This record gives sequence, C-alpha cells and structure tokens, in this order.
Amino acid sequence: MAIKLAVLYQGQGDVLPFQQLAERLGVPLYQSFDIDSQEDYFLSWRDGCLKLLDTVGATGRSPLQKGGLVVDIEPRNGEQRSWPAPKDGALAQALGRKTRTVIDATTGWAQDSLHIFRMGYELLCIERSPVMAELLTDGFARLAQLDWMLRLNLEPPSLLQGNAIELLAELESAPDCIYLDPMFPPKRKKSALPKKSMMVLRDLLGDDQDKEQLFEAALKAAGKRVVVKSPDYAEPLGGKPSQSFQGKLLRYDVYLKG
Ligand SMILES: C[S@@+](CC[C@H](N)C(=O)[O-])C[C@H]1O[C@@H](n2cnc3c(N)ncnc32)[C@H](O)[C@@H]1O
Repeated sequence: MAIKLAVLYQGQGDVLPFQQLAERLGVPLYQSFDIDSQEDYFLSWRDGCLKLLDTVGATGRSPLQKGGLVVDIEPRNGEQRSWPAPKDGALAQALGRKTRTVIDATTGWAQDSLHIFRMGYELLCIERSPVMAELLTDGFARLAQLDWMLRLNLEPPSLLQGNAIELLAELESAPDCIYLDPMFPPKRKKSALPKKSMMVLRDLLGDDQDKEQLFEAALKAAGKRVVVKSPDYAEPLGGKPSQSFQGKLLRYDVYLKG
C-alpha cells in the first residue's frame, strides 16, 4: 500500500513556503482538511515547527487539530543540559574515546544525532527520505536559534539528503566513526510498542532492506570504526562485532577497522 502525503495550508501566514515544500516533494497542496481525502499524512507548519500530521487517530480520521510529530531538539530525559554534555553512557562508549568526527548515515528523527552533537562530536547527518530531510532541516534551523547555540556560536550539524550507500562512497575525507541505526523488522512476539515517532517512520518508509549494503559501504568509508545500533533481539548486522555495548533493549555493535 502506497503511503499518501500532502502539504496542508490552513490560512495562517504566508502560503509560499507551503507551495515550495509541496513542489520540492512533488505532493499536492491542500488548503483545508477533507475528511474523505486519500492522504495518510500531512506536512504543515504549526507553532513554529514543521509537523508531520497523522490523519488516523484513535477515533478514526481526525481533523488534525492537535499533535503532530516534529524533530525534537530538546535534550533527552537525564541528559545533562550543558555543552558539550559528558561523553558517558553506552552510546559514547561505542563511539570511542578518541573519536572526533562522526557521520550518522541513518538520521531519521535525529534523536541519536542530536545526542551525539550535544556531546560535542563533529557531526554530519545523512537521510534518504525527502520527507524526513524536510523535517530535519526545520529542526536544525530551530536548533540554530536556541540561546545556548547562539551564545556558544555553534552551527547545527550539516545534513545531506540522499542514499548513504552512494554518498559514503563519495566522501573526500574519512570520518573517525560512521553510525548506523537502520530500521529492523519488528519482533514477531508481543513486545513493548515502539514510540509513535518510530511507528510512523516504519509506516512511511518500511524496513531498510538494504542495510547489509549500507554496512559494507560504511565499513569501507569509515576511518576507524562503524557503530551499529540494533534491537537486542536482532543478529549483529556485520557478523561478530569487535565490541558490544548494551543499552536499554538495544545494543551498540562496534566494528573496528584493522
Ligand atoms: C530507525 S531510523 C533512525 C532513527 C534515528 N537513529 C533517530 O534517533 O531518530 C532509520 C532512518 O535511516 C534512514 N536510512 C536507512 N537507510 C538509509 C540509507 N541507505 N541512506 C540514508 N538514509 C537511510 C531511513 O530513511 C530512516 O529515516
């Protein structure tokens, strides 16, 4: 089933950015929500953020008044609110003590990217979904305007839209670490429901069928290591890892280059 998406403009502010967004994505622009429309998702600017609105609520198709998913630029619970935040925890251990430059080749909602960025690594983000890339561009622009970013004269991470399998092969210099968090098929057994943002991502994009190829491309392009985040039930993506660090219901498998 093809997932249908449109841009929604509801009369607030300038219509031009909405028209341009619809053109860039090659999707229709609607000026009101029609309960019978075919779209599963809408993109719209609300409350100063680009939001992905889901038309199917618990009570059937909803008129999209509230909610919506955005790239959340706030630190996660428990993360220290300073920059750079301390490099501790399983993710930092997996990235490695000597790592300075990181490419997140599967940026998604950028929750890992932003954690990596806040720990002070030099970061480049890659995302192949044009819809996600639009949401990320909006999120990174909001990040650039935060007080602490302005005070510390920090630039948000750079973002490349495209397939990392190709983009990693064209890099001019090798990053210390390439980070991968592709979409794994869900566990068949009943398990805790994934977060709404991840369920929507799966619905929009499906599983990443080419993750083995992505791993091979990452291993070639990385300077020192590849880190793969995977659910704890999944087999390691690149065979036996050099090291593994356990997180909550997940693992960071580290592949060191010889
Ligand atoms: C599970 S999500 C990543 C979630 C992310 N770590 C976060 O914290 O929000 C996987 C994302 O990687 C992207 N992706 C998968 N394979 C890719 C590839 N070969 N090139 C670029 N992006 C890719 C998908 O489009 C999807 O948005």
